[in-house]
Amino acid sequence: MNATPPDRHLFVVVGATGDLMDRKVLPALWEIHRRHEVAEGSAILGASRRPLSDSEFQETAVRALLAHGAGPEGEVRSWAQSVLRYRAIDGTPEGYGGLADRVREVESEFHLPGNRVLYLALPLSAFTPALMGIARAGLSKGPGWTRVVVEKPFGRDLASARALNDLIHSHFDERDVYRIDHYLGKETVQNLLVLRFANMFLEGLWNRQWVEHVQITVAESLGVEGRVGYYDSAGAIRDMVQNHVTQLLALVAMEVPSAFAADAIRNEKVKVLRSIARLAPEDVVLGQYGPGSGPSGPTPGYVGEPGVAPGSRTETFAALRLRIANWRWQGVPFFLRTGKRMARKSTRIVLTFRAPPISFFPLAEEYELNPDRLAITLQPDEGFDLAFEIKVPGEENRIQTHRMRFRYADVFGSMRDAYETLILDILAGDPTLFVCADEVEASWTLYDDVLRAGLPVHTYAPGANGPPEAARLAEEWGHRWNED
Ligand code: BG6
Repeated sequence: MNATPPDRHLFVVVGATGDLMDRKVLPALWEIHRRHEVAEGSAILGASRRPLSDSEFQETAVRALLAHGAGPEGEVRSWAQSVLRYRAIDGTPEGYGGLADRVREVESEFHLPGNRVLYLALPLSAFTPALMGIARAGLSKGPGWTRVVVEKPFGRDLASARALNDLIHSHFDERDVYRIDHYLGKETVQNLLVLRFANMFLEGLWNRQWVEHVQITVAESLGVEGRVGYYDSAGAIRDMVQNHVTQLLALVAMEVPSAFAADAIRNEKVKVLRSIARLAPEDVVLGQYGPGSGPSGPTPGYVGEPGVAPGSRTETFAALRLRIANWRWQGVPFFLRTGKRMARKSTRIVLTFRAPPISFFPLAEEYELNPDRLAITLQPDEGFDLAFEIKVPGEENRIQTHRMRFRYADVFGSMRDAYETLILDILAGDPTLFVCADEVEASWTLYDDVLRAGLPVHTYAPGANGPPEAARLAEEWGHRWNED
C-alpha cells in the first residue's frame, strides 16, 4: 500500500525449503526483484534444516520457480545465483548462532547496511524455538532496521496466541512485527475499504436500518492437498475462520477509521471484533467431507486422505452465526462459512437489504419481491453484483430481479499476487495490511469456547455446500444460505 522505495536489505527466510517458500514467498520475491521494485543489490538468505550448499539451494529455488511458471530459465537461474545464499541450521535456539554469522557474512559480501527481514515460514511448533534462537543470537536488533514476519497460524487458541505475543514482544517492538494474513494482501480485500468509505451512498445503507443480514462464504473446491500434517491438528476454524474469515468480517463491519493509517484501521477492526459475543456451541456447525467421485474416479473422504489419523474428527467445514452488539449492527445476523471440497472456489460477501414493508404492486402472477442484494466476489471472477427489482418493459404487471455487474477483469489486467503486495509493504515498513497483537487476541477470544466444546462433526458429500445441518443455523434466524 505504501509507495516508499524499499531500502537495501537482507531478506532472511527461516524455513526456506518448505512448501510455503516454494509456492508463495519465493515466486513473490522473484516477481518483485524482476520488476525492480526492490532496492538493487539486496540479497536473500535461506535457512532450514536441510544440509544444502548455496548452489544446491539455488537449484532447488530455480526448480520451484519454473514449476510456478517463472521464466525464462536462464534469467531465473542467473537471478538465483546472484541473490540467493543459504545456511543450514539445526532448529535449536543454539543453532541460530551460526545463522547470525552467516547473516553478517552475506551482508559484507553484498555491502549491505544491516537492514533485515526475518521471515519465519515455519510450522507453529517451530515458532518459539526460532524466536528464542533469533534473540539469543542477537539477531533481533541489527545495525539497521529489523522486521520479523510471522506466518499463520498465530497460536492454537487464545492462551497460546497470548504466549506467542508475549515472547515476540520481549524481543521486538510491535511496530516491527508483521503477522501475515495473506487475505489482507488481496486487491479485492483491500478494496473493501474503498468500496465502503469512498462511496457515500453505500455508507448510508451500510447499517442495521437497511441491511437485513450479511453472509460471508470462503468456499474451496480443493481438499487438503498434501498439507495433512498441519491441517489434521488445525481444522477449518483454526485454519480459515479465526484469521481470513474474521478479517473479512472485521473489514465489512468496522467503523470509519480516523485516517488511512495502520493504527487507525487496526484499532477499528479490534473494536468491532470486541463487540461480538463469544460464540456459543449452537451457533456453530462443523463438517468433514466424505468420499465421493470426481471426473477421474472415486475420491477419498477426508479420513481416507494419506496421512490423516484414523477416525480423525478434524473439521474441514465450519458454519457460524453471530451478532455484533454496536449501534451500526445491533440485530443484524452475520452468517459465516468456509470449507474444503465444496461445490466451487468462491469467496463472497453478500449484503441482503431489507425488503419493502408492503408490496402494493398489482402483479399478474404470484411474485414475491426479492430483497436487493450486493454481492462482493473477492475471488475468483472478482467483482460486484447488485441485484435489484425491475419492471419488465411492455408488461404492465410483471417484475423481475436483474443484476448490475462489475468485473475487475473487464477493466483492469491481472492483479498482483497477495504475497508480492505484502512483501513490498514489509520492505517499506508499512504494517497496515498486517494483523496486530490485539486483533489476533480479539479474534481468538471469539472462538475459544467453541474450540473446546467438542462439537459433533457432520459428514458432507464432496461438491456439496457443507453438511445439511448447516441450514439450521440460518433457518433458525429466519434466513437461508445464498447458493447462487
Ligand atoms: C491458507 C489455508 O491460509 O489459505 C489453506 O491454510 C487455504 O488451507 C488457503 O487453502 C486459501 O487461500 P486462497 O488464497 O487460495 O483463498
